[in-house]
Formats: sequence, structure tokens, C-alpha cells
Amino acid sequence: MSVLTTSGYLSPALQRSLTFARPTLLIPTIRHLQTTPAQNLAATATVPPHPKLLPDNKVSDQWKEDADVAAVKDYMLRHPVYTPDELSSITVTKRPIQGPSDWVAYNAVRLLRLGFDTFTNYSDKIGVMTEKQWLNRIIFLETVAGVPGMVGGMLRHMRSLRLLKRDNGWVHTLLEEAENERMHLLTFMKMKQPSPVFRFMVLMGQGVFFNAFFISYIISPRTCHRFVGYLEEEAVHTYSNALKDIEVGHIQHWKGKKAPSIAVEYWKLKEDAMWDDVVRAVRADEAEHRDVNHTLAGLKPDEPNPF
Ligand SMILES: [Fe+2]
Ligand SMILES: [Fe+2]
Repeated sequence: MSVLTTSGYLSPALQRSLTFARPTLLIPTIRHLQTTPAQNLAATATVPPHPKLLPDNKVSDQWKEDADVAAVKDYMLRHPVYTPDELSSITVTKRPIQGPSDWVAYNAVRLLRLGFDTFTNYSDKIGVMTEKQWLNRIIFLETVAGVPGMVGGMLRHMRSLRLLKRDNGWVHTLLEEAENERMHLLTFMKMKQPSPVFRFMVLMGQGVFFNAFFISYIISPRTCHRFVGYLEEEAVHTYSNALKDIEVGHIQHWKGKKAPSIAVEYWKLKEDAMWDDVVRAVRADEAEHRDVNHTLAGLKPDEPNPF
């Protein structure tokens, strides 16, 4: 719409007539046009940011690290922080099988472990696994490990809505577990960016595992928590082997490799922490998941979460 006089301003008479004709549309338009042409230009011109204000991709590592730290500070649930004694006191445990439900859970874990071991070419022997094999193993494992907590938390949440009653504190613990596992994944991805084939396998794995766990949790939450408990026993075992390989195997250089800032911030590690410190913290998380899930498996659905 052209309503300007030759000087670029509206005459008062024209303003009155236009305002009368279409008041709601024209009032903001007239207010804008009553500024000077120079002001109009300044208000509408797009000024590109100074090049120094843009992230420099060539030196972006630090920038990405800072962004990671900001994300951890802003969005995370509870941060697990361990004392040196807690980190060193983690042990591999095996809970005995008690009843058919435990038997099903235990053997499902054995079957899953067999698949994992084959796919990631895993060996339990110390000094055999290369760094690439370790990272493939850990990254694939963590993409799966983040599923149960989210599915369990979601189903407990829906149950609470559906039955119009309190959840008694399970949802938060399960969602924290899911986030914690995702932090393991994001941390180890600082060492390796998986190939397209690997990513495709993750996609397929999640499609199968999410649905299988979802249906299983609807049928028997107790068996599912026991399953996660046994699965985490295996995770503690695997990370304990990784720590031994850091001592004597092919990943000894992890002891001299600086921990990424995302891990330092999340676990509140000391500033000069190395990757072996990260692995110790991750192992402690897995031990906590193990104990939490074995405990939840022994509770009735309406009993309060003791954690
Ligand atoms: Fe994990
Ligand atoms: Fe875990």
C-alpha cells in the first residue's frame, strides 16, 4: 500500500482519513512511517555480525566444549558425584537367580550379551581389545542402555495418569538413569564419531530393543527391572575389564588423555582428570543402576522408591 507523500511523510488529513477507513491495520503502519527515512533504514537494515563474533570452525573445539558445559549446567537432572573411595570400592557382583522371573531375565541378558559380543567383536581377555573395538563396544552398549529407564519412566508416568494415583518416586529415578546413560554415550562420542553403517545398526537395534522392552515392561515390570539389574552387572564387568586394559592393555594412553569438559562438568571431576577417571565414574554409575534395578525388582509397583 502506498500512502506516502512525495517527502516520504503522511499529511495529517491523509492520516485521519486512512485511520478512519481501516483503523486496526493502519495505526501501527502510520506509527512506523512517522519516523525519519534514516531511522526507517536503520530499523530495517540487516547488519551481519562482525566476523570475530562468529564461531570459527577451524578452532571450534574449545567453543564446542564450552557449549557442552553450558548444556550440562542448564539441562541436566541430578549429577552423580563420587568420592575416591566410592570409585575404588566398586566390585563385580552376581546376584543369584531366585525363581522363574529371574531365570527369564538372566537368560535374556546372556542372549543379549552374546549378540553384543559378536557384533562388537568383544573379547573378555585382558590385552586383546584395541581402542577401536573398545569404543565400538562402549558406544553401541550405551545407545541400548539408555532405553530401559526412559521406557520404564514413561510407563510409570502413564500409569500414574491412568490410575489417578501417585507414582511414589519411581519416575524420577528411572528418567535419571536414562539421562545418565545418554551422558555416557555423549562422553564417549568425544573419542569417536561412528560410521554410517554403525549408526544404521544403532537405529535397527533401538527399533527392536525399544519395542521389545516396552511390551515386556507392560507384561512384567519386575522381570524388566531384574533384567536391567543383570545387564548392569555385565556393564560393571565390562568397564572393570576396560580399567584393566587401561593398566596393561591397548588403551594405556587413556591414562594420559585429558577428560572432555562435558565429563568434568557432569561428574564434577578434578580439572586435570584423565579418561581413566571418566571410566571409573561410568563404572560407578553402572553399579548404581545395578543396585537400583535389583531393588526395584523386589518391590511391589505401589511401594515407595527407597532411592
Ligand atoms: Fe552406561
Ligand atoms: Fe547403566
